[in-house]
Formats: sequence, structure tokens, C-alpha cells
Amino acid sequence: EEEGLGGEEYLFKVVIIGDSAVGKSNLLSRYARNEFNLNSKATIGVEFQTQSMLIDGKEVKAQIWDTAGQERFRAVTSAYYRGAVGALIVYDITRRTTFDSVVRWLDELNTHSDTTIARMLIGNKLDLANIRAVSVEEGKALAEAEGMFFMETSALDSTNVKTAFELVIREIY
Ligand code: GTP
Ligand code: MG
Repeated sequence: EEEGLGGEEYLFKVVIIGDSAVGKSNLLSRYARNEFNLNSKATIGVEFQTQSMLIDGKEVKAQIWDTAGQERFRAVTSAYYRGAVGALIVYDITRRTTFDSVVRWLDELNTHSDTTIARMLIGNKLDLANIRAVSVEEGKALAEAEGMFFMETSALDSTNVKTAFELVIREIY
């Protein structure tokens, strides 16, 4: 087994943030367990999953943290961000308010984490592109202005989910 001290130098903490119901928990369950729940409940507090991947033949583990988008369900913020080396900032491409909130999430992230943290902006629910309220160009432009990677994903049909997580983890590594 690869449990033990030897692996620890490759254990990275990644946090997922963004408004409620943008799909943070489903992105994580899709990536870590290949599961999707159409009726998932709002997250209360904090949950995390550990996921392994191979980079250059080495096993790299990411501990991915997921918290509530709703303020009243959130756990102590500084503890959530402590030690994070990667962050996924998620909005829902069908709800503009969730895109407008990204700057607030970035403010919070900048307050609680190191500036060198690898950051990726994610426009989720790409399967609903027919009712999109935020264009790809707007997403790209914001990501570029803030020095983030950008990707549109669908936790429902799996599009770009693995790619997005692994891009951030690779950047950290
Ligand atoms: P909080 O825990 O409240 O912060 O919400 P969350 O960001 O974790 O959202 P969650 O993953 O619980 O998903 C909210 C709703 O959106 C659920 O009904 C999901 O099934 C749905 N959902 C999540 N991802 C997608 C997606 O890619 N496409 C579609 N169509 N629905 C999605
Ligand atoms: Mg959740």
C-alpha cells in the first residue's frame, strides 16, 4: 500500500468555491467517484475527498475540499483555505448572478490564501448551453484578467471534469 510517510510530499490541498447550487459537490463526486446526483442537497459545513493521479510516473494525491456556497452553512473560513495550493472557482453558465459573484469569491480567496495558489475558473452546466446566460468569451476574459485557467464543464455529462481537476493538480505539481 502507498499509505505512509513516503507519499506525503505529493499530497496537495485543493479547494472548490462558488455560489450555492453551481455544482461544486457534483463536480467533486463526478471526479472522485464518477457519480452525479440530480437532486443533491446543499452542502452543510465541509466535506473532502482524496483522489490520486499519476504525473510523470509518480503518484500524486489531491485532497479536494468542498464547502457550502450558502453563507449560513459555511464553516470557519480561514480553516477551509489553510494550506490550499489550488482552487477551483465555479459559476453556473445559466445564472449570471453566480458569475457576478466570482469577484467576491476571489476576494475571499486572496484574503485567506497565498498569491501563488493555482486557480481555475470553471463555468459549469455546459450541458445547458442552450439556456446559457454567460458567454464563453466573458468567462475567458475574466479568467485572463485575473490570471486564472478557464474551462467550461458539465458534472452531469462529465465534459472536462477530469481535465479541469487534473490541470490544476498538474500546475501545482
Ligand atoms: P452548495 O452545496 O449549496 O454550495 O451547492 P453546490 O455548488 O454544491 O451544488 P450541487 O453540486 O449540489 O448542485 C446543485 C444542483 O445543480 C443539483 O440539482 C445538481 O444536480 C445540479 N447540477 C450540478 N452540476 C450540474 C451540471 O453540470 N449540469 C446540470 N444540468 N445540473 C447540474
Ligand atoms: Mg455542495
